[in-house]
Amino acid sequence: MSRVNTSDLVPGMILEADVYNYNDQLILPEGLVLNDKAITKLSYYAVSSVRIKDVGDSPAPKAEETENSYSARLRATPEFKKYKEDFEKTVNEMSRMIADVVLKNAPLETDQLIEDALDLLHPPGGDINVFDMVHNMRHYDDITFAHSLNVGLICNVFAGWLGMSEEEQRLATECGILHDIGKLKIPESIIKKPKKLTDTEFEVIKTHPTEGYKILQRYNVSDHVKSAALMHHERCDGTGYPLGITGDQIDEYAKIVAIADVYEAMTAARNYRGSLCPFTVIEAFEEEGLQKYDTHMIMTFLENIVNTYMLNRVGLSNGMEGDIIFINKQRLSRPMVKCGTEYIDLSKRPELSIDKLL
Ligand SMILES: [Fe+2]
Ligand SMILES: [Fe+2]
Repeated sequence: MSRVNTSDLVPGMILEADVYNYNDQLILPEGLVLNDKAITKLSYYAVSSVRIKDVGDSPAPKAEETENSYSARLRATPEFKKYKEDFEKTVNEMSRMIADVVLKNAPLETDQLIEDALDLLHPPGGDINVFDMVHNMRHYDDITFAHSLNVGLICNVFAGWLGMSEEEQRLATECGILHDIGKLKIPESIIKKPKKLTDTEFEVIKTHPTEGYKILQRYNVSDHVKSAALMHHERCDGTGYPLGITGDQIDEYAKIVAIADVYEAMTAARNYRGSLCPFTVIEAFEEEGLQKYDTHMIMTFLENIVNTYMLNRVGLSNGMEGDIIFINKQRLSRPMVKCGTEYIDLSKRPELSIDKLL
């Protein structure tokens, strides 16, 4: 038996033991052969590692995507290369500034941070698809700042989809960038621990929303920014932390951040391959329960992501290829796909799924 980090899991590995979430509900059974979907589910529940059966050598990692895959083509574009460079610069500035705020009580100047973030979304050559970028960014050593910047960018676009004003979109971006600021108060030995956290360590991690709120109290920032830090792990059905409050008690901006946060965590690049298919992430949301999130918000979010990939060429789990031609509003991860002359309605074919963007 060996314990393997979720980020190092590879499809084909077999679970040695049942896996539970932090509410003690069974999420994956012992003996299950892992696939992309199961690994995504573990990220959804923030499970950091699992026990894996030793069966000779572990399965060989899947080959990187082929030269002409959607991801490979995207990563070769000058727009992506520029984005990556600017993203890294912004993350570095952000980490320097926020560390000074937390450790030295330095002033918090969010205007520049938001400006830099918005420049990433709106480069001179034309706007980028932030979801494509998020899905294709390489694995980061630093788990707080790259994540926070991604969440801020997603919040910006998401707030636009919700019909919020430009000013509100800026505020949503600020909420996203600062939501995990309390993590800087958690010892690195716990944040970066490669093994499963003990219950006590998990309790420490769970203090980061309150710690973040306390830090932001010292600054002249909007109450929504403070609430987003405090409440982004709350869930509409009351299963979240630290307060366990429900839908109408949760700040609107915290609800936006909650969705962006989970989405980002699920897409974080895994070690065995470049990027995760957005449809796998959407399916995890659909299966694990939309009731945890604000209904209108989560539907708007997922629908808009799926729409981004309308008419995109995709590969199915049975090896067929086709184009997405119709979105099923009831099952967003399962649109209608036209393969040659055949129309495949994935909402009626549970045995099939979209595996990759081509
Ligand atoms: Fe968090
Ligand atoms: Fe987060």
